[in-house]
Amino acid sequence: MLPARPAPHRLLNPGWSLALWVVALSAPLAASASNLPVWAYPVNPPAGHPAADDGHAIHVPDSPVTFTRTQITNLTGPVPDWHPDEHPAMPDIVAKGRAPNVLACAYCHLPNGAGRPENASLAGLPVNYIRQELRAFQQGHRPGSEPRRVPQTLMIKGAKDLTDAEIDAAAAYFASLKPASFVRVIETATVPKTRIAGWVLTPAPGGGTEAIRNRIIETPEDFERFENRDSRTPYLVYVPRGSVQRGAALVVTIRDGGTVPACITCHGPELKGLGDVPRLAGRSPSFLMRQLTDLRSGVRTGASTELMKPIVAHLTDADLISLVAYLASREP
Ligand code: HEC
Ligand code: HEC
Repeated sequence: MLPARPAPHRLLNPGWSLALWVVALSAPLAASASNLPVWAYPVNPPAGHPAADDGHAIHVPDSPVTFTRTQITNLTGPVPDWHPDEHPAMPDIVAKGRAPNVLACAYCHLPNGAGRPENASLAGLPVNYIRQELRAFQQGHRPGSEPRRVPQTLMIKGAKDLTDAEIDAAAAYFASLKPASFVRVIETATVPKTRIAGWVLTPAPGGGTEAIRNRIIETPEDFERFENRDSRTPYLVYVPRGSVQRGAALVVTIRDGGTVPACITCHGPELKGLGDVPRLAGRSPSFLMRQLTDLRSGVRTGASTELMKPIVAHLTDADLISLVAYLASREP
């Protein structure tokens, strides 16, 4: 069982633009927020006091390096790089960002591009797609449905300040990385009771189980490792019974009398992406659910979202959960 821990906000460098935090945390709730699948949009409880760094060397499995707490929480880079041999040299914008507004991409998306449930995996996405989405964030096309989600606010703020050369460098870097899956999908009727910490769900300190209901529960297998920002942190993904098989059928289904093409038509036969259309296989179910929800509600816009709109328009919440359960279970 996990020890009781202080509030996770201590992980974020308190020196970094406090004003921005206050603005982000006091933003009003979106009108649609009550209809959101809240498990995909966890919002941290109010900030606690950052724990003092006692300077001790922190380790993660299979890594030759150590970092202190202060180094791990440094949003402005250099980011903690636990496995420097698993990726090429990072461009400065990825490893360090650029003050005052652009935080290091790899702080959130990790040096290997694995990402985390509260953000997005980027490894191996088409270079043009990464470029296009950075422009979409710049132009306000991806505000997200939950304005209290600070990681999203910081993503948008950073994107608005990126130069074309920085966009090209970051896109080329993440597109060059080999995608890998860090999730293990388990079909079940009951799940551990969870609480929100570090913008993700994690088993509640008191233990216990509850019914899964119409949810997917994605949680780091080892919260300590997650908090240390190990780029190989594995996740357990609990999904409703039967959802994987149901999702497998849905990705090949052509609907509405043949007018709506199947997912595999555009995302590729194995859902690993096709041309400039992004990979879906093996990605975080929380991330995928937020995208499908935001695309369906019209919160996520932009030129090529028009292709997705008719696809998601008639899908129910249960359909989305099944699709996401199946997609997460695939090899990337
Ligand atoms: C503070 C954390 C944070 C930082 C720093 C950050 N991002 Fe993100 N990024 C996010 C979040 C959160 C999302 C997912 C938003 C959502 O759920 O819609 C995201 C999404 C993305 C996406 C969309 C991926 C997809 O498949 O839809 C791209 C591309 C991206 N980020 C690139 C970058 C680049 C390049 C940088 C550095 C210049 C960067 N990000 C820095 C948090 C961050
Ligand atoms: C007609 C082509 C087409 C079909 C069919 C299609 N998609 Fe997409 N999908 C796209 C495009 C293009 C994008 C990129 C949208 C953008 O640029 O914002 C996308 C984006 C997505 C995203 C967001 C990925 C990311 O990295 O942010 C998800 C999730 C997704 N699609 C799931 C699905 C699922 C599930 C199906 C089947 C039910 C499906 N798509 C069918 C074209 C398609």
